[in-house]
Amino acid sequence: MKFEKNILCIGAGYVGGPTMAMIAYKCPRYKVTAVDINPERIGQWNSDNLPIFEPGLDKVVRACRGKNLFFSTEIERGIQEAEIIFVSVNTPTKTFGSGAGMAADLQYWEKTARQIRDCAHSRKIVVEKSTLPVKTSLAMERILTDANDRIHFDVLSNPEFLAEGTAIQDLETPDRVLIGSHETERALEAREALVQIYANWVPREKIITTNLWSSELSKLAANAFLAQRISSINSISALCEKTDADIAEVAKAIGMDSRIGEKFLRASVGFGGSCFKKDILNLVYLCRYYGLNEVAEFWEGVVRINDYQKSRFVLNMLNAMFNTLAGKRICLFGFAFKANTGDTRESPGIFIARELAEERAELVITDPEALENARVDLEDLGKDVSYLVDPYEAAEKSHAIAVITEWELYRALDYDRIYRSMTKPAFIFDGRNILDHRKLFEIGFNVFPIGKTPLTHF
Ligand code: UDX
Ligand code: UDX
Repeated sequence: MKFEKNILCIGAGYVGGPTMAMIAYKCPRYKVTAVDINPERIGQWNSDNLPIFEPGLDKVVRACRGKNLFFSTEIERGIQEAEIIFVSVNTPTKTFGSGAGMAADLQYWEKTARQIRDCAHSRKIVVEKSTLPVKTSLAMERILTDANDRIHFDVLSNPEFLAEGTAIQDLETPDRVLIGSHETERALEAREALVQIYANWVPREKIITTNLWSSELSKLAANAFLAQRISSINSISALCEKTDADIAEVAKAIGMDSRIGEKFLRASVGFGGSCFKKDILNLVYLCRYYGLNEVAEFWEGVVRINDYQKSRFVLNMLNAMFNTLAGKRICLFGFAFKANTGDTRESPGIFIARELAEERAELVITDPEALENARVDLEDLGKDVSYLVDPYEAAEKSHAIAVITEWELYRALDYDRIYRSMTKPAFIFDGRNILDHRKLFEIGFNVFPIGKTPLTHF
């Protein structure tokens, strides 16, 4: 079969994999290939055991894999054959040199740009999918055009707004698709080619176009705003705990103001995930670079409150449990950074487990999807941590349970049974406010929610 378009994505991770699968699913007339330097990952994409857990992803991949969706390690060949190349290699926070701990590490990004330049034999549209500092496309254009007057490249910015756990839904019915480009005739033509791809399933009015820099900045700003809402509500949760106000009631009262809105106001043990912290630090670094210190400090505060919320959670546990955790068995319910994903990148669970281990607690971790990643994250803690899939088994003989992830299954457990199996007095620290606190208290637990008065028997 002759395909209408040939689309490539370099980087088959959490973003590249599902995004390409959705394009292939919605556009059977296009050939879509995702390539990656990691052969193991490509092997998993080609197997029944996909490298990431995402509800609905299996179905979409199975419907098109081998027909118009392909996963491969042949990057050079992919570049030569494609007209449109998405780039979604990772851009982690730099761990070395200038800007370490703040700036984005662009080495994979730049290497990919050079590879595209060196392998291409024909005109290409290169689409930035990875989240990048503003003005990165300028650097990309310079690399692509340097020592090359044979081939024309158009660089577009098309940030991905999908959230993990709802990736398929977010890709299928996005709030908006954002495409940034230059305003030249050629660039507008390239932009239209990308608009056409999304127009196969996204209503035209939801596809918005801007200049390149607005598009790059909007992605950083969107993540910063979302994270800011969580830090705002979490900061108020600390005050609730001191004043007998209830964070759920406050969030509802605030959120019903249509100017504020109800979403992203769930107080928690802190936000995690690969994006929020990385992107805010990136924004802070950019602001400092441009001498905007006040702006940098404002956004840095969002990360500071998040760190504070995680530390506060552990301190609350320590205080409640008579100021010693040494030798006590503590069970973490959940380790993923949010429900419906096995991803543990920047999960508050990592910090909390480490702090508890520092207090010499004995840790048991349970999670329906993230245990494999948890083992890697906490490898250095060795035998002090055990990992059990069954929450009942995990809670047995524990002095306390700490809910880290809002998995639906934790709401429906038999807490009478769990209470009976635990060491007394038994504690529950609900870091997600998902459990029925009154009922748990009546069973006999000492209950410590976030941003609410604790329910204790002493
Ligand atoms: C990544 C970025 O972290 C994020 O900023 C951006 O918004 C989208 O891309 P994610 O998909 O979650 O997010 O990253 P990850 O799951 O690590 O996937 C990146 C993939 O790129 C990996 O599979 C890696 O093997 C691959 N890669 C990396 C390449 O193929 N080539 C490289 O040179 C580097
Ligand atoms: C985020 C953005 O939502 C998405 O648009 C972007 O493309 C990538 O970053 P993601 O990190 O996958 O997505 O998950 P998200 O649902 O935003 O949750 C991030 C963290 O905030 C999680 O740890 C979550 O548990 C926490 N959170 C979210 C809260 O603590 N309270 C809330 O009310 C909402």
